Amino acid sequence: MSVTTPTGPGTRIRPRERDAILQSLRAGVVPRAGQQHVQVGRAAEVQALVADITRIADGGAGSRFVIGEYGSGKTFFLHLIRSIALEKRLVTVHADLSPDRRLHATGGQARSLYAELMRNMATRAKPDGGALASVVERFVTQALAEARDTGQNPQVIIRVRLDALSELTGGYDFADVIAKYWQGHDTGNEQLKIDAVRWLRGEFSTRTDARNALGVRTVVDDASFYDHLKLMSRFVRLAGYDGLLVCLDEMVNLYKLANSQARNANYEQILRILNDSLQGTASGLGFLFGGTPDFLLDTRRGLYSYAALQSRLAENTYATAGLVDYSGPVLRLANLSPEDFYVLLAKLRHVYAAGDPAAYLLPDEALHAYMNHCASRIGDAYFRTPRNTIKSFLDLLAILEQNPGQDWRSLIGAIHIAAETDPDLDPLDDASDPTVRPTDERRGESASTGGQGFSHAPAVTVAASQLPPDDDELASFRL
Ligand SMILES: Nc1ncnc2c1ncn2[C@@H]1O[C@H](COP(=O)(O)OP(=O)(O)O)[C@@H](O)[C@H]1O
Ligand SMILES: [Mg+2]
Repeated sequence: MSVTTPTGPGTRIRPRERDAILQSLRAGVVPRAGQQHVQVGRAAEVQALVADITRIADGGAGSRFVIGEYGSGKTFFLHLIRSIALEKRLVTVHADLSPDRRLHATGGQARSLYAELMRNMATRAKPDGGALASVVERFVTQALAEARDTGQNPQVIIRVRLDALSELTGGYDFADVIAKYWQGHDTGNEQLKIDAVRWLRGEFSTRTDARNALGVRTVVDDASFYDHLKLMSRFVRLAGYDGLLVCLDEMVNLYKLANSQARNANYEQILRILNDSLQGTASGLGFLFGGTPDFLLDTRRGLYSYAALQSRLAENTYATAGLVDYSGPVLRLANLSPEDFYVLLAKLRHVYAAGDPAAYLLPDEALHAYMNHCASRIGDAYFRTPRNTIKSFLDLLAILEQNPGQDWRSLIGAIHIAAETDPDLDPLDDASDPTVRPTDERRGESASTGGQGFSHAPAVTVAASQLPPDDDELASFRL
């Protein structure tokens, strides 16, 4: 195992980016940006999703279920694909599901998911979210430019463009709200613009308020969740983007719903989305769902408990014994390998040194020693679910940086590494109230690290280590 400079010789990393990456990883969360500096493996998976993005940008559709064990890299992968989508001129929205945020509900939880998605709307120019207002603004300025070029009345141009929305469910009011935004723009009425954007964000909760502010009779509500995503995907194309990618993480929250009716209603919503993308009725719209194997495979509570989904999501029965198929809707994330983890450590060292090999705090030898230490403490979980081992490694680098002259040899042996536990694998009690279950990670110190109760045939995928070493680069943005 030898590794050349991870992100290419001379790759400097801007201090702000460096700090953001390191801070996230040390806190145990996935970096929002700059993933390419630390990313390892997953070349084939990334390639499959880049093809999806291209199809969406061509007016197609696509839904993928990104399935992997707790800590295997689902959230990381979703963020990575999201940044690629932004590069490819898509608009993205993302949110974690939770007891208060679902795809289907009657108590406001679906609207709440919608509002969260809209708050996180991102574009290449605004990758950190909050991009909805600028998308609307862009629609207006493009229409104004066309009006100027063709000598037509801007209002006519805008109406003609918005006609494309009217054929969709809820399209009239959506178009009216955009027209109100334009009116606000044209007359210098800032409040009207703000109200229009608030409506689009799903922040109006009563029809009366919406009628008073904007003269429309409807609001985004639980029942119109998916219709509004379809409208939004059409609208971002009218604004000059290539499509909309919707990333939904922590799907296990649906599996955790104790009420089977509520659960099935959510699964039915997923079926609708999946059918639209398989039949090509949605256009310029893609969905990524991140979930654990239980969420997919459990025949009592998972997607497989819903017959129509089970048949659509069944894995290719030929994809066994080393054969892979990345064309189905289910994308199983292969485990990272020890080789991947080694490359990851080297990349972390590189990022820590802001891309300057002369500033490396550790020699290669220490990377091996660190891996051996981890293996002896927590077994193969150290590379399969690397959250804690990444954190500890960064802690080690921080000590070395601030205590020059310390010998890494004396430090490595003393590092304490906690194994990870998946809180979702605690026994589910049917009678328990799902809303009081913590949804975010609760890490135990005394966890077992074994197969964690998941007894389905293992996913078959190409380990990144079987690919030529340069494919690591391939997996970054320039595909
Ligand atoms: N392909 C990868 N390259 C580099 N680091 C990764 C990769 N996949 C996951 N990680 C890191 O592993 C840890 C766990 O990943 P995460 O996405 O949070 O797992 P999950 O969402 O499946 O629970 C995070 O620190 C993440 O940054
Ligand atoms: Mg996650």
